[in-house]
Amino acid sequence: MPLADFLADLEALSAEARKAFESAADAPAVEAARVEFLGAKSGRLKAAQKGLGKVEKPEKPAAGKRFNEVKREIEAAFEAAADRVSRSVGGGPASSTFDRTIPGIRPRIGHLHPLTQTMQDLKEILGRLGFTVADGPEIEDERHNFEALNIPADHPARDPLENFYLATVGKRVGGPLLLRSQTSTVQIRVMEQTPPPVRIISLGRVYRPDTADATHYPMFHQIEGLLVDRHVTMADLKSVLRLFASSYFGGDVHIRFRPSFFPFTEPSVEVDMSWNDGWIEMGGAGMVDPHVLEAVGYDPEEVTGFAFGLGVERVCARRHEVTDIREFYKNDVRFLEQF
Ligand code: PHE
Repeated sequence: MPLADFLADLEALSAEARKAFESAADAPAVEAARVEFLGAKSGRLKAAQKGLGKVEKPEKPAAGKRFNEVKREIEAAFEAAADRVSRSVGGGPASSTFDRTIPGIRPRIGHLHPLTQTMQDLKEILGRLGFTVADGPEIEDERHNFEALNIPADHPARDPLENFYLATVGKRVGGPLLLRSQTSTVQIRVMEQTPPPVRIISLGRVYRPDTADATHYPMFHQIEGLLVDRHVTMADLKSVLRLFASSYFGGDVHIRFRPSFFPFTEPSVEVDMSWNDGWIEMGGAGMVDPHVLEAVGYDPEEVTGFAFGLGVERVCARRHEVTDIREFYKNDVRFLEQF
């Protein structure tokens, strides 16, 4: 086959192919043109390639060179057409301005609040020591918040100015209600329902009309622990608190007891833990007062117990070096994102 004929056929094929791709109006038309010209088995370019074999040997390099060029031209025409029809999907000028290369809008994924994370950690650590989680209501009566806890009517802790009493219309049977001021209420609720032994923790919100500052807030969280069984001693209390502090803060944390007073424990202590060569206060604790055991129908001659109450904000703030607990309630994402 003379070279001139081969080249003339190629030129005609190229022109026809480019026209076909340019005039293809939609994706099926582009695909039909692709099969006709670039189809691997019986495409027309494939047929032209066979003609290459019939060109005289000395003219083969020139024929092959032009064949490759035409092949690239047709491929480019196909790509341009494919791109054009895919961009105009849906038609209309607006959709043709859609830029598929702009990164998408990343959904903002949140996480648990640092105080919730802390409470989960505490549950997990004390769970390993055999404490199960108990819950109690945030609206309480005076029996559970005070009386059964050995806090008599004339005790200053019951002063209406120290508590959030709820306004009740007329006289309510069972006395007035208040937002619980401590999670020790759950000690009573659990012991009323279960015979000894008990080994529970309870985590939740408590309310006191304090002015908000770096270490106070009218609502905060406590973790309460209660263990009642035969032969429970203060050594058990100290071991549990020490194990708890080491697990949560890491390292060999020491625990110190300072004498204190709570109506529902005897003896009562303030619990401090060692921190950077100093001591920081974690909360209150003590041996459950016999009056409390009697109030729930336990026999103080049979069983003894310990209880502790720690501030969740305090341990969380200490661990993360937060210096103002009000940050926890501002809902400022820039603060919360850090946990
Ligand atoms: N309920 C006490 C408080 O809120 C803490 C405490 C709990 C003390 C259990 C002793 C035993 O201050």
